[in-house]
Amino acid sequence: MSAGITNGQAARFRVRVADRRVVAEDVVTVDLAPVGDAPLPSWEAGAHIDVEVAPGTERQYSLVATTPEGHWRVAVLREHDGRGGSVAVHEGFAVGHEVVVGGPRNHFGFDASRPAVFVAGGIGITPISAMVAAAETAGTPWELHYAGRSRAGMAFARELHEAHPDRVTVVAGDEGGRLDVTGLLAGPRDAIVYCCGPRRLMDAVEAAAAHWPTDSVRIERFEPAADVDAPGEAFAVELAVTGETLTVPADRSVLDVAEEAGVFVLSSCREGTCGTCETPVLEGTVDHRDTVLSPAEQADDRTMMICVSRAASGCRKLVLEL
Ligand code: FES
Repeated sequence: MSAGITNGQAARFRVRVADRRVVAEDVVTVDLAPVGDAPLPSWEAGAHIDVEVAPGTERQYSLVATTPEGHWRVAVLREHDGRGGSVAVHEGFAVGHEVVVGGPRNHFGFDASRPAVFVAGGIGITPISAMVAAAETAGTPWELHYAGRSRAGMAFARELHEAHPDRVTVVAGDEGGRLDVTGLLAGPRDAIVYCCGPRRLMDAVEAAAAHWPTDSVRIERFEPAADVDAPGEAFAVELAVTGETLTVPADRSVLDVAEEAGVFVLSSCREGTCGTCETPVLEGTVDHRDTVLSPAEQADDRTMMICVSRAASGCRKLVLEL
């Protein structure tokens, strides 16, 4: 994440569904057009937006492309065992439907100056496909390893492979395929590995790339960290803007306490996965429990996700730019 972000910069605005298409089994693309004359904000590969899928309920979707008409394209997998957000998109987002979105926001930046190894699992192809386009535009050497349970459910697999047969490997489980992540990342490389997909795949990539430099592994997780609900201690938060000091009890978040005190804070997922509530830290040491910041960014303690992260054990007070 870029340094110096102040919570509240990313505005909410309305967009209209301009097109939708079934692109794979249980996957639709949805094109979102601006409402009014202002064009949609620009974005870079790896960015995602917050989408209000139902009143008071937001989900995060990676941007796949900007269409020639200037519309944002996202791809959404219908999750049969999910919490209902994807079903709301599949069933409720007809052409003409208006929704509120926020962002774009990018915690999964693409570095065109170094070769890229892309590893995608299932719907994790969405930010990766934008990165493939960015790599092509920049002339960055790249390769893509794309795995899924069934070929029919793998969005963009055919197009990507047809366009780049020597760079794209498609591994479909229903054809007996299996992605050998360990073998793939075994040797020393000067590349950056980018991975988005199911938790198991991302964990495997992190483990297989453990010998790579830490700045060479970039993972996009939209699932909460394993320690998100670990017990915490009470601590104080000083709000630098107002000078007020609040107490955060052991069983509550900074976000909850700040909102209760009447502080306006943008938030969305409230589980440490979207980055919306990122807040600059001016003093103190943080127990980071998000899946947004990289290990290096967490070690820096320059910002924190106040929906889940807390003062580190032994740190009695955080001073935040709120
Ligand atoms: S609201 Fe999503 S990271 Fe805090």
